[in-house]
Amino acid sequence: MDASEIHRRFNRETKNKWQAYGSHRAHVMSCLLRQGDPPLRNRLCLLGAGNCHDVDLPALRSHFTEVHLVDLDSQALERGIARQGCQPSDNLQLHAPVDVSGIVATLDTWRPDMPPDADEIDALLRGASAHELPLPDADFDVVVSLCLLSQIIESLVVSLGSEHPQFLEAVLRIRKKHLETLLKLTRPGGRAILITDVVSSDTAPALLTLPETQLPNAVADWINEQNFFTGLNPMAITESLAKEAELCQLIARHALIKPWRWNLGQRAFAVYALAMERK
Ligand SMILES: C[S@@+](CC[C@H](N)C(=O)[O-])C[C@H]1O[C@@H](n2cnc3c(N)ncnc32)[C@H](O)[C@@H]1O
Repeated sequence: MDASEIHRRFNRETKNKWQAYGSHRAHVMSCLLRQGDPPLRNRLCLLGAGNCHDVDLPALRSHFTEVHLVDLDSQALERGIARQGCQPSDNLQLHAPVDVSGIVATLDTWRPDMPPDADEIDALLRGASAHELPLPDADFDVVVSLCLLSQIIESLVVSLGSEHPQFLEAVLRIRKKHLETLLKLTRPGGRAILITDVVSSDTAPALLTLPETQLPNAVADWINEQNFFTGLNPMAITESLAKEAELCQLIARHALIKPWRWNLGQRAFAVYALAMERK
């Protein structure tokens, strides 16, 4: 199965999980509605909106004058907005299929039995660096990545394999590009917010039962124990903001928002947000 079909399949499998997303949605919405100063209330862009289970669209449409939804999967967006009684309009614009990463079309041509060579990986990463999103009038007031970075990295796991000698390099370059994309879509003075899952109950089973108040300390412990998804350690990401010249020049300040649980029934994830102010 190719990388893009994996995402569409996940969206089909989770299409009836609106209820299960309830507490995750409340955390995401509190993060978004916190961007409440009037100058930030104009144009919102959500990357990886998928089934839109993690946002309350009517509330966002009354908070922001324009809401733009971006995803690889056009059917998921259509399903998602219909479920919330919405239709595409000037105030709710859908952009799909759009690959935010710029790597999916190439990954879809790779086969596990024919691993790419170093030149092909270099070409993939150069293509990703040059990739620009087909979004008219970017300059959004608020841009949010909705648990998308882990999915982009998952595409690399599926197509390249986590054992490949250039896997880590590819993850770090794709991560940097994702942060740059978020910031470049944001107008000066606006906010770019990375919301991402960091670890799941597969390797941290206590996530299924731990009281929410104990979650921040537990997540810190898992991170110290190197128990997190490759490329998604929040400390390493904030360090990269200070080290990478291309990112430094785009960020005025940043803050980590404490983690919460995204419970999908038999599986749970710890999720955190990184809010960045665009210079
Ligand atoms: C984990 S889901 C986020 C949850 C989603 N907001 C919801 O409520 O259903 C990640 C989303 O990212 C999308 N996605 C994955 N890779 C993508 C890419 N390269 N470009 C754009 N969207 C992508 C998937 O189709 C999926 O809808």
